[in-house]
Amino acid sequence: MSLAIGDLRTDEIEAAVALWEEAGLTRPWNDPRADIALALGKPNSTVLAGRLEGALVATAMAGSDGHRGWVYYLGVAGPHRGNGFGAAMMRASADWLKARGAPKLHVMIRSENAAVMKFYARLGYENSDTITMARKL
Ligand SMILES: CC(C)(COP(=O)(O)OP(=O)(O)OC[C@H]1O[C@@H](n2cnc3c(N)ncnc32)[C@H](O)[C@@H]1OP(=O)(O)O)[C@@H](O)C(=O)NCCC(=O)NCCS
Repeated sequence: MSLAIGDLRTDEIEAAVALWEEAGLTRPWNDPRADIALALGKPNSTVLAGRLEGALVATAMAGSDGHRGWVYYLGVAGPHRGNGFGAAMMRASADWLKARGAPKLHVMIRSENAAVMKFYARLGYENSDTITMARKL
């Protein structure tokens, strides 16, 4: 079955948050609904939804910062993993960012989730050997 990918609809927000919680992508200090409101349907950012027969089974948040593209909240619902949907969401995110002029795509991986590097490596991503630092604004 092939995945239909498009912008997340507002009536799918709760399903997206549930998917992120199940996939271990949420953190107590990030409000996922606020993150969606900030990114969804903007000129330089969106949240992509992957649907199987209308049901949300995958997400990816894509955004271009004016220099590079980034993907956050990549998740595939547990029972649907291993079917190429994660790869399809990354391809769709790359296409979305490329269409907006981003020359390169980065992903941030939490150190406790380093095992997922193998997934990205399979898709041709390389370790960019950088350290990200952050502060609240
Ligand atoms: C990571 C994730 C999105 C992968 O989705 P998926 O649909 O299962 O991945 P795919 O089926 O598209 O896999 C694509 C390729 O990567 C490989 N792969 C997937 N997950 C892997 C893993 N954990 N370790 C090694 N290889 C992996 C697959 O075997 C496949 O290889 P193939 O091309 O040889 O068949 C999914 O496991 C997930 O939602 N994880 C929890 C959330 C998460 O960690 N997100 C990333 C945050 S940075």
